[in-house]
Amino acid sequence: MRLASQPRLRAIDWRRMKDALLSKIHGRTARVGVIGQGYVGLPIALVFAEAGFPVLGFDADPGKVAVLRRGDCYIRHIGPERLALAARSGRYEASGDLDRLSECDAILICVPTPLGKHREPDNSYIHRAAQDIASRLRRGQLIVLESTTYPGTTDGEVRPILEGSGLKTPADFLLAFSPEREDPGNEQFRTRSIPRVVGGVNRDSTDAAAALYSAALDKVLPVSNAMVAESGKLLENVFRSVNIALVNELKMIFDRMSIDIWEVIDAAKTKPFGFMPFYPGPGLGGHCIPLDPFYLSWKAAEQGSWARFIELAGEINTRMPAWVVWKTSQALNDEGKPLKGSRILVLGLAYKANIDDDRESPSYEIIELLQAGGAIVDYCDPFFPEARPTRKHTLAKRSVPLDARVFAGYDALLVSTAHDVFKDDALYRDVKLVVDTRNMVSALTPGKSRARFVKA
Ligand SMILES: NC(=O)c1ccc[n+]([C@@H]2O[C@H](COP(=O)([O-])OP(=O)(O)OC[C@H]3O[C@@H](n4cnc5c(N)ncnc54)[C@H](O)[C@@H]3O)[C@@H](O)[C@H]2O)c1
Repeated sequence: MRLASQPRLRAIDWRRMKDALLSKIHGRTARVGVIGQGYVGLPIALVFAEAGFPVLGFDADPGKVAVLRRGDCYIRHIGPERLALAARSGRYEASGDLDRLSECDAILICVPTPLGKHREPDNSYIHRAAQDIASRLRRGQLIVLESTTYPGTTDGEVRPILEGSGLKTPADFLLAFSPEREDPGNEQFRTRSIPRVVGGVNRDSTDAAAALYSAALDKVLPVSNAMVAESGKLLENVFRSVNIALVNELKMIFDRMSIDIWEVIDAAKTKPFGFMPFYPGPGLGGHCIPLDPFYLSWKAAEQGSWARFIELAGEINTRMPAWVVWKTSQALNDEGKPLKGSRILVLGLAYKANIDDDRESPSYEIIELLQAGGAIVDYCDPFFPEARPTRKHTLAKRSVPLDARVFAGYDALLVSTAHDVFKDDALYRDVKLVVDTRNMVSALTPGKSRARFVKA
């Protein structure tokens, strides 16, 4: 009798606990903790604060916590006003004190997922965050992993770490995966309006995570489980990587036939169905597209499968900086100048236009390859007055001023990032040669500059 009633009591107890969590979510009194206040964690923390939830933003970097606590925002496109407003409302607080995780009803994990030296996934940040939670886990909490990773991470790696605390899901806590789809600088789609996919390691977890995000975001799509949600995010990023590789390869093929890939894409995209334009460039950048697909190819290899599209796309895209440098040396050659000793100004360190994010930016490799060829290289990027050392590159340079007279002093300009500030006819007035990886020329007035534009 006693044995039979205990699980029932536990089930009733759990239902009460789940109802309590849902009622806190609906009343917007559930405290939301976000581990990692980077490009993904900070915007989602602010969205929950703006939706009326009390939010604690945790970061392991004391420098970032100090800046955020002052009400400043170190990510330019988010803007200091949003952060100041959230802080003033009393609903957002940055903290480095992980013991405060126990105050939270829901905890979102937004930590980095880089690649190791041999392009292998590095889930150590996720494991660390899970351990930080496990040692403070209490009954009734909902944990959601947002970092991009291979299928099986939430159920097969995060869950055992959390259950190492002695608590189990769904009886004691809930666990789900919900991929962030942040697109920094995108004015059309913001964190709130980008639909959200959620998948739990069990049904209760999916329901609770869906309820949480629905209280702050416009549209939420629950899927069968965490593995589907993890795989969906990878499909999105593989899709981009493969299509970018396709246009990069076509760019090199068309170049030999003197056909302009940009004009070809403009023509193809007039087809109103069955085509979506992707654009070539100097190589992949950012924390997602250059890295995430390899999480899946690594996992596929573990299962005895080959992810051939992913590997091929990676190979083509990583060749781009070398191709751009080759095109630059050809263009200089046409002017009777060797690469060695030529003065080249690279426009843009950011990996994409109008943002201050230089992670995995191809500009760094381009600069290093140009320097290896003997060129004298500077850069101009108002988003990076100074080039900070990155994991792979130490440039030790400052941006030259955005000034037509400065630009005129170089043998060639190389457009790596199409920041709006570069789309100014006056800047190119006395420039001789522009190697253009972003079709910048299309944003300028024909005839305003005597520069020769070479697309690369
Ligand atoms: N940047 C994007 O545009 C983007 C878009 C979609 C998905 N993602 C994914 O989101 C995840 C996070 O990316 P990001 O761009 O925000 O990275 P980021 O480097 O900008 O931010 C991560 C933050 O986590 C902090 N951190 C690391 N370990 C911690 C710990 N144990 N406790 C507390 N803080 C910790 C770091 O100090 C850093 O501030 C990655 O998996 C990435 O693939 C990124």
